[in-house]
Amino acid sequence: MTSAAPPQLALSQAVDEGLTAVEAAMREVTASQVDVLRDASRHILSAGGKRIRPRLMLLSYLALGGTDMLHVAKPAAAVELMHTASVVHDDINDHGVLRRGKPAVNAIWGRTFALLTGDFLFTAVYELMAPYGDLNIDLAQAATALVEGETLQASAVKNNRFNREVYGRIIALKTAALFRAASGIGAKLAGAAQQEISALADFGFNLGLAFQIVDDILDLVADEAELGKTSGVDIVQGRGVAVALGEGNSNGNAPTNDPLDFIKRKMLEGDTIDKARARAELLVRSAIASLDVLPHSPAKDALVELAQQVISREN
Ligand code: IPE
Ligand code: IPE
Ligand code: MG
Ligand code: MG
Repeated sequence: MTSAAPPQLALSQAVDEGLTAVEAAMREVTASQVDVLRDASRHILSAGGKRIRPRLMLLSYLALGGTDMLHVAKPAAAVELMHTASVVHDDINDHGVLRRGKPAVNAIWGRTFALLTGDFLFTAVYELMAPYGDLNIDLAQAATALVEGETLQASAVKNNRFNREVYGRIIALKTAALFRAASGIGAKLAGAAQQEISALADFGFNLGLAFQIVDDILDLVADEAELGKTSGVDIVQGRGVAVALGEGNSNGNAPTNDPLDFIKRKMLEGDTIDKARARAELLVRSAIASLDVLPHSPAKDALVELAQQVISREN
């Protein structure tokens, strides 16, 4: 990034430089000598993905005055790899066959290799994070939360114990914790003061909650091809937006021959989706409000824009 560039241009150059380094770091650390691990990792990484978590970390870093994009790139790659590992495992659990617009890892290589590829991606995080001292604790806590959230969800589904409160706990653990780690680590790497670190961590957490609510709405309303992943799974599991809003177990009275169609129709008829969207919008507003303590900068504007995109996104 050149010092003569206008601030907006300088920001987009810095973000591009960071994201390019993130891709390189992910590719390098997944270059296993074992073909299946290397090929399956490359497949899921090159299939696309929005890269919202690394972008969140890079922008948080920049918004607090960070300048060394190569230094922040490895933790940003670690966060993205942890997320990617979680979706590879998620597709095994949810029987997803489409991910990022391509066949899921389990659909090509089968469940055993998908399980191992997810493990491999999780362990690659150790290598990337080795030089980053205490920041390992933040990421380790997010990894634990993710597994706890997925486990809580599976057990709530199994025991038919889904309700609004449980849903809130689950999305905080499985999704929002990693968003919080991303923004918090970005702030810490920039050498920010505690108040700013907390502001960024709150921003990431509320954004993560909103992100998962919107994801659950899209699972219901979006076209599978546009979404690029297997949809309808969340509703069949008896979770999703109806439950988020305290309407009990959303598949309680579903006929057994076509539960998905029945539940979808029921939910689309009511105001469940509007209520869920309103809740996500409130969370995004609250996330943006946490940024008040930050000085004005193009990176801060980009964080606000990122938050707004979480609401308007269609995949
Ligand atoms: C999907 O995350 C899993 C959730 C937490 C909802 P993303 O929507 O960020 O997935 P990619 O990385 O863009 O594929
Ligand atoms: C999010 O759960 C995945 C993780 C946080 C591990 P979902 O099952 O709702 O995610 P998608 O919709 O398949 O991406
Ligand atoms: Mg899932
Ligand atoms: Mg899923």
